[in-house]
Amino acid sequence: MSAPSNLPVWQALQAHYAEVAQLHLRELFAADPDRFTRFSRYFGDLLVDFSKHRITDDTLPLLIELARQAQLPEWIDRAFNGEMINHTEQRSVLHIALRNRSNRPIQVKGQEVMPEVNAVLEHMRKFADQIRRGKWRGHTGKRIRDVVNIGIGGSDLGPKMVCQALEPFGDPTLRMHFVSNVDGAHISYVLAECDPESTLFIIASKTFTTQETMTNAHTARAWLVKELGDEAAVARHFVAVSTNAAGVSQFGIDTANMFEFWDWVGGRYSLWSAIGLPIVVYLGMDHFIELLDGAHAMDEHFRTAPLEENLPAILGLLGVWYIDFFGAASQVTLVYDDYLRSLPDYLQQLDMESNGKSIDRAGQAVKVNTGPILWGGLGNNGQHAFYQLLHQGTHLVPSDFLAPAHSPNPIGDHHAILLANALAQAEALMVGKTEAQARAELEKQGLSGEALEKLLPYKVFPGNRPSTSLFYRRLTPQVLGSLLAMYEHKVFVQGVVWNINSFDQWGVELGKQLANAILPELKGERPAGEHDASTLGLIAFCQAPD
Ligand code: F6P
Repeated sequence: MSAPSNLPVWQALQAHYAEVAQLHLRELFAADPDRFTRFSRYFGDLLVDFSKHRITDDTLPLLIELARQAQLPEWIDRAFNGEMINHTEQRSVLHIALRNRSNRPIQVKGQEVMPEVNAVLEHMRKFADQIRRGKWRGHTGKRIRDVVNIGIGGSDLGPKMVCQALEPFGDPTLRMHFVSNVDGAHISYVLAECDPESTLFIIASKTFTTQETMTNAHTARAWLVKELGDEAAVARHFVAVSTNAAGVSQFGIDTANMFEFWDWVGGRYSLWSAIGLPIVVYLGMDHFIELLDGAHAMDEHFRTAPLEENLPAILGLLGVWYIDFFGAASQVTLVYDDYLRSLPDYLQQLDMESNGKSIDRAGQAVKVNTGPILWGGLGNNGQHAFYQLLHQGTHLVPSDFLAPAHSPNPIGDHHAILLANALAQAEALMVGKTEAQARAELEKQGLSGEALEKLLPYKVFPGNRPSTSLFYRRLTPQVLGSLLAMYEHKVFVQGVVWNINSFDQWGVELGKQLANAILPELKGERPAGEHDASTLGLIAFCQAPD
């Protein structure tokens, strides 16, 4: 495939952009009472409203033509058929197989994968049931009460986010902890909360070589052995999730207590695999299956729906519209659902590690902008912190608003206030406040003359700031599964348009290599090597006596 900017439709999109850039969403809404109906879709209990985007009736057909010219339908087939679309690592990309609830046959290198997938799910179910029913006991016979997942990146962010998101479905007798940071502070404060006799450690690492995870795992192991005074205790308190059986057994975990996954599951796409073990332990297998069901429904939609109706395709293309035509470098996730507080971190890895690339599938430098700088947080808190920039700053930052129509915590007016704020912010970003409106308001407050004119420019909101509203009835496992799969496929759609491989992550390697070189120098085991003056100066500062 050629570079996206060489596709015939690209120029048409540029010309269309020049027209749309002149339009204000306020006017587009005023001119079309059906805009919401035409530019929103339901997916089960999920409502996706993209009417507050800077699009006209001509925009989506052009963007969909871009997807066609980029061969999106063919790429979807390749992905779902297990072809090695991760060409730089020679791997298939089959997280969809992990939630293939219809058991449609899927092969990798001529081998059916579903029997293995189902066998690992069964292993997870048995183990989680034993923990939840108190059948699996610690070394001294105590029931497991604290579960500590030790992992980083995809081996942390997904399971942590889902356990938080679905807390109302969780087992209240279990306390879930997630240790990721190699900063000793993290493991220290988690261990301080745990009783060694009733703590289970899940060491989650696809490679089982990740420095941060292995360091934390060894610290946890040493703590447990010291506290319980017996090496044999490790067998009842440590299990592993990995693709590396040799590494697991070298660490001292019986491979019978290892939950396997495969190289065709990318780290940031792995929460559906055995990496989801903490989710299964906390929520029970039935809820995990509902999560997989929700994702599978979205997979089937993505695989079969025409592009015009295809939610991940529409959302992915809207992202491309802003990044490549409006020059919007950043996008923000605004979560009006406290249970989803870790979603922005999760999406950040999903999107930025997938599409933060500048070399295309042909090995050439890409000529257009690729993945956005994705950030975000709790919307209501953000209103009192960073929204100023969203409303009146110089950057155009398209936003995603997420909110549940109903709360599992119906306390007083809390939820109505939360929703009112979500709705108001999306509206405010879109409509803004004109100079005439601001003037009228100031006059009403009794201002006039020079005082009014001086204050007036600060009171104007340009508006025309686009957003998608992703509202759902309630945050159930099914809804969450669909939502996450939708984001995964959206990222894939964008990778296809940009002709990049969304499934490798070579950009994380250099820092790891240099850290390995600096570590012995920092510890004084080797003299500081060849570094720039800044790095040498910083090493010297760290080595100076305390
Ligand atoms: O360094 C990046 C990365 O490889 C991510 O892609 C991955 O999710 C994370 O590290 C953890 O890797 P592992 O599961 O192998 O420990």
